[in-house]
Amino acid sequence: MTENERHLMQRAYEEVKKNHDIVQHDPYRLDYHLMPPVGLLNDPNGLIQYKGVYHVFYQWNPFNTSHGAKFWGHYTSADLAHWREEPIALAPSEWYEKNGCYSGCAVESEGKLYLFYTGNVKQEDGTRDTYQCLAVSSDGIHFEKHGPILNLPEGYTAHFRDPKVWKENNRWYMILGAQTKDEKGTVVLFTSIDLFHWKEAGRIAGAGMNGLGDFGYMWECPDLLQLNGKDILMVSPQGLESNGHLYNNLFQSGYFVGEFDYEKNKYQPGPFVELDCGFDFYAPQTFKDETGRTILYGWMGMTDENEQYQPTISRNWVHALTIPRELEYKNGKIYQRPVMELVKLRKDKGIVHHVKIHGQPAQFDGVEGKTVELVLEALNVNEGNFQISFRNEASLIYDSSKKEISLQRKNFRTCLQETRTCSIASLSMLHIFMDQSSLEIFINDGEEVFTARYFPNPKDETITFQGNASFSLTKWGLGKL
Ligand code: FRU
Repeated sequence: MTENERHLMQRAYEEVKKNHDIVQHDPYRLDYHLMPPVGLLNDPNGLIQYKGVYHVFYQWNPFNTSHGAKFWGHYTSADLAHWREEPIALAPSEWYEKNGCYSGCAVESEGKLYLFYTGNVKQEDGTRDTYQCLAVSSDGIHFEKHGPILNLPEGYTAHFRDPKVWKENNRWYMILGAQTKDEKGTVVLFTSIDLFHWKEAGRIAGAGMNGLGDFGYMWECPDLLQLNGKDILMVSPQGLESNGHLYNNLFQSGYFVGEFDYEKNKYQPGPFVELDCGFDFYAPQTFKDETGRTILYGWMGMTDENEQYQPTISRNWVHALTIPRELEYKNGKIYQRPVMELVKLRKDKGIVHHVKIHGQPAQFDGVEGKTVELVLEALNVNEGNFQISFRNEASLIYDSSKKEISLQRKNFRTCLQETRTCSIASLSMLHIFMDQSSLEIFINDGEEVFTARYFPNPKDETITFQGNASFSLTKWGLGKL
């Protein structure tokens, strides 16, 4: 470890210590989501199960609640439900990463853990350099930096980052999010046989390619995963215009379903599908665990004009990751479901009600709280709107005539109501995870998901149901990580 690296890590640990009380006593601190100990968290990075242990790294600015020279923070878990904070994995100490160890991934090769990430460098004249870097570990905790393994190729601006690496037929593949010189978002492929030397293999998808028209000026955080025989390309494009219910956040995250031709290194994508209908979801990453499940984490946040109005900023921290979600490809789309290990967070056996409601707002015995899991099954909405209000601060509203479901919350900056909506053919099931200041709502067993932060009165624990409907309701109280 270099002197500078030691020094930066030391400063970060001091910042954590200095802010411990103010951060930990924030009523909006989440109980079972991964958060930064202080400062700002953004993308999930380096997701992997290595030697049996789950690792989640994350983009972290320990010194401020704004974006800056990112570190890689690190959590590990034996069961995806209980997490341990590990020493800092990467600090931006070297010339090739001095303005941030930006997003990347992890792979295992011959017993070692390899982290690929982007070294971000800002020059004094405001221009940017980008280097794809490697760090290697034998224990999953301490990393030795190998520096840049890939320079910026011809044809792209310095917005070239977020390596994701995988192995297929004894060859390594890396995709990067990029911007072409004429400012089109794209994904660029490289191949390698030893993880150190990489050969460019061209663009595999992007705005203006394969029948796709204008599709944003930059694509971030690409990921290529196989589900049910399909090659799914996930990306976070920037610069899409909102269009009806689509693309209403500043930036989007979604996927193309297609076929990747490993002989020709060509990809043929279908249409783009958004992954989440809520307000706070970006830069997701997936990994395959030892049981063969494909698991996704997203950043439960967004770098938009409201970011600096998040109430936790007065407590010197901001943002969190989503809960882990298992992915399944069926009926032509990705379904997301909370991983089954989250049942370990349940503090009780669950309270069950079989109910019929008629117009008036209804509350049910024991169905209240701040950190709660709710399942509504055999849900039958007779007519009109069916609505659940969460702690008098956010509502989920199903309109049975329009066949639309919406989430409403108060805007952090304007305090006005804001809404996100998606269309569904019918509504039969809801699976809801409430934490102190977050909501994750899985519709029809993961067909659609709403992810959002919200900041209710910390004393309010009310959950209200309204409409003409019948359903079985189960509620569990959830515990801390
Ligand atoms: C996405 C992103 C990545 C980048 C990282 C920097 O949120 O902009 O493209 O690597 O965040 O923190």
